[in-house]
Amino acid sequence: MSFNRYDKIADIIEQDFKQVLLLEHLGITFIVNEKTVEEICKENNINPDLYLHFAMLFANKTTSSVPDFNSDDIKCIVKYLQNCHNYYLNERANKIIKYVKQISEETHCTGIRLLDDFVKKYIDEIKKHFAYENEIVFPYMISLANNGNNLANYSVIEYKHHHDNIDDKLADIKGLLIKYLPFDDNNNLRRKLLNCLFDLEHDLKIHTLIEDTVLIPLVEKFEGKPSKYLSKNIKTSHTDTNTDKTLSEREIDVLKLLLAGNPNKEVADKLNISTHTVISHRKNISSKTSIKSLAGLTIYAIQNGIIEVTDFTN
Ligand SMILES: [Fe+2]
Ligand SMILES: [Fe+2]
Repeated sequence: MSFNRYDKIADIIEQDFKQVLLLEHLGITFIVNEKTVEEICKENNINPDLYLHFAMLFANKTTSSVPDFNSDDIKCIVKYLQNCHNYYLNERANKIIKYVKQISEETHCTGIRLLDDFVKKYIDEIKKHFAYENEIVFPYMISLANNGNNLANYSVIEYKHHHDNIDDKLADIKGLLIKYLPFDDNNNLRRKLLNCLFDLEHDLKIHTLIEDTVLIPLVEKFEGKPSKYLSKNIKTSHTDTNTDKTLSEREIDVLKLLLAGNPNKEVADKLNISTHTVISHRKNISSKTSIKSLAGLTIYAIQNGIIEVTDFTN
């Protein structure tokens, strides 16, 4: 699937319904009649190359390069990202919190009750992430785009270095729900919750990709520092050759010590192995369980009898 500026937007949506979110995030009205990408973009003052690049990301298509965007595009991208933040917090996050709360109130499963807490902390984390972007990063970028030079005592390099990946914990929550947490009669609620999580994950991945591979390099160009981001950070896909998902005894020892609050160095000392080996065990544990965060691994470990709830609460 590849799109061009003469495609009708209605046809693109027919092929991939998720594209309606692209319209919403760009502030374009949903009624598109028989209009093409070029016509709708002209009406809404959006660069068609930008629309097509984002549409390709929405369709999970990799593009060979990012088009050469300009200062007006910075403003359009920032508006898109701000609309995304509002959508995530006002719509998706509230629904996720509501479903998890509902599930945790109806269950005696400790793992699910811990998940309630995990989800709330995760949402607080993304709120902080968005607030930093809304209050510091985006106003700086808009000012740079309007004035053509850097008037603030700030650089996008600061943002680039602190731009955390906010997808990992979301993937953990999803993984726990699909693989490890029992739901009794609540399959209906689990489906609704998973639906929300999948939608948020898809959108959030594109969002972060736009920030990292489009916006940051573009602003760096304006600041006069060509981006090394793309060449440094392109991830190559790999096939997971580790088919045995059972944790080894050593991995369980490492996991227990990590969950007891020991940093890598102390785990290494206690097990008489190197820190490098501990890190390697951590990678294997995450790869086998598909869970990266310690909060997610705690729930996994309780569900699988590796630790007792009392170990965790004492
Ligand atoms: Fe963002
Ligand atoms: Fe971000």
